[in-house]
This record gives sequence, structure tokens and C-alpha cells, in this order.
Amino acid sequence: MQIDYAARQAKLRAIQGADAIVLVPGSNLYYFTGLQFHLSERPTIAIFTPDGHFSIIIPELEVTKLHQRPDLEGRAFAWSDTDGYAEAFRQAVEELGLRGKRLGVDGLTMRVTEWLEFQKVDPTMQISALEREIIAIMARKTPDEVEAMRKAIRISEAALDKMLTWVEPGMTERAIATRLSEDLGALGSEGNAFEPLIQTGPNSALPHGMISERALQRDEFLLVDFGGRYEGYPADITRTFCIGTPTAEMQKIYDTVRAANEAAIKAGGPGVPMGAVDKAARDVITNAGYGEYFIHRTGHGLGLDTHEPVPQIAAGVEDLLEPGMVFTIEPGIYIPGMGGVRIEDNVVVTESGIDVLTSYPRKLNLGR
Ligand code: CO
Ligand code: CO
Repeated sequence: MQIDYAARQAKLRAIQGADAIVLVPGSNLYYFTGLQFHLSERPTIAIFTPDGHFSIIIPELEVTKLHQRPDLEGRAFAWSDTDGYAEAFRQAVEELGLRGKRLGVDGLTMRVTEWLEFQKVDPTMQISALEREIIAIMARKTPDEVEAMRKAIRISEAALDKMLTWVEPGMTERAIATRLSEDLGALGSEGNAFEPLIQTGPNSALPHGMISERALQRDEFLLVDFGGRYEGYPADITRTFCIGTPTAEMQKIYDTVRAANEAAIKAGGPGVPMGAVDKAARDVITNAGYGEYFIHRTGHGLGLDTHEPVPQIAAGVEDLLEPGMVFTIEPGIYIPGMGGVRIEDNVVVTESGIDVLTSYPRKLNLGR
């Protein structure tokens, strides 16, 4: 993937409301620079100033990463474990003219640790949480980014196909998850986008529950929420199955969630309020009498982070969908003690509507 980092950084510098944008290690920093660091006890912080320069306070042992990227023209304020980082922060503030200035940060990832170091240098410095502005830039995906997600999805769907050939009653959730992860890797995925969630029977009623040693039984729900990764970009797919014979109630819940998923897909498109997509799914579930059991938003942004805060497909959000935005549509019904169904697809907003990136069949009964 050919990436124009200078163009991405120009958009970052154009954000209003701060004198400089600072980013800590993670998806944001990777998106705007291609540099990958772990967020650790050693402060690493990138500073984007309006003069067009990119600077970074960086542990000495990481400086080689910068040398491998002359295209970034980054300026390093390096610090060593022996000397500590206070001096690097002081130099950066002085030489970049940040005294008394306001830093714009992603409030979801910026830590108090780094902020206190700036404050030690100059207590008059200020800070603003600008994650919505920062993440809005990342929310509009290029065709290359969408293509990477299509590949991640294709690999994931192939792994799901394979899973249905070997999954049997008696296997534990953990064993299913382990084998699914192995299949993903063998099919070309860069590991899991997130730990696969396998939930059987009553466990499926706990969205974001934990994986357990419970064994799958016949005639109950098997919920699989997982995704591979390709060129850094994830898939995030959920399908719910039943080996054996589902009860009429299970089938009704499934059909309702499926109808909600399809209604949300139909509702989406450029210029549509995000909340309208949530409402389309929620109305179907409420009208079927299960409204109180749909206990989360309909979807989330999908990108380098599996959960991106833009777009937010939730009740009442009036922001409009824009071409290039990729997000999940994942309505669910969760009946405590009995079980739950979620069907999650990944879509991209186009100039004229919605393109569904996932293509895996939505079918409860596996016929065996
Ligand atoms: Co998911
Ligand atoms: Co999701």
C-alpha cells in the first residue's frame, strides 16, 4: 500500500483548536507516520507543529526506526534510560516554541504521564481533547484501505467455512477459538484482529463476555465473533449457528436479528444520520417485542483499530455518514439464561449507497 504520509499529516495540522497536535504510540501515530512503537513506561510522543515539522520525543533505543524513514524528515528529541526524559521534554518545548501553547490530543489514548512532563516544563501549557477531529480524518478510508479490509474479510470467511467442517458438540469454547485462530494464520491472516469470541448456549447472552471451558451442545446457539487482519486492517464478523434443531423461539430471535441487520444495511448511505441506521435495526427488534434485549449500539467504525469511535452507529447520533467510512452493522438480541444472537457485517459507504464487504451466508441451522 502506497501511503502519502505528508498528505495525512497536513490534514492533522489543519485541525483547529490547538497550537500543535501530539500523539502517543498506537493506531493514530501509525496512521499518520507509519511508525510503530509500543505504548510503554518509556514515553514516546510525536509532535506535529503548524510549521510543517514532525518531531518526536523518543527513547534512544528506538531512534533507528526513525533513521529507516528519511521520508518523514522527523526531528528526534532522544533520551536515554541513564539520563531520563525530563530534558528531552524541556528541549522539545523550548525549541518548538510550545511555552504557553495548547496541545491537541486524542483524549482516549493520551496519558497523564506525558502531560505531567509537559506541565513540569511549563505549567501554563494547556491541553484540548480533539480525538473526534483526529479520528474523523482516519474515518474516510482510501480504496487501498478498503481493499485491505476486503482481503482480511475474505480470509476470515474462508476460516469460518473451514470451522463449520470441524466444529462438533463436545468441543470447548476455548478449543474452538484456538483452532479458528490457527486456521486464520494458515490462510494468510496477520494473526487475530482481536481474541476470537466463541460463546455457546447461555453464554451467548453476554455480549463482550469471556471465553470459557464450556463445551458446545447440540440444539443451542454457537456465537462466533472474530476477524483476521491484512496489511494492518481488520475484519470484524459475527455469525450465530446451531448444530441440531433450534427451537421455534431460537429461530424467531434469529430471524428478527437478521431482519434488523438487513434493515440497517438498507438504511445506510452518504448523508444519512448515523442514528438513522441504528434506528432502522432497533425498530425491527422493538416491533418484534425484543427491544429491551438489544442492549448495545448497532455498530462502530472499523479501521486500524477494530473499534474506531467514528462513525458511531448509535441512537440519536446526528452526524452524517460520508463516502469512505467503514463500519460494522451488528444488531443482537440477548435473553439472559437462554442465549443470544448477533449478526455482524462490515460495510463501506460509497458515493451512492452502501457496499457490504462481508458476504458470509446468514443461516442459523447448519443442517446437521
Ligand atoms: Co465483532
Ligand atoms: Co464489532
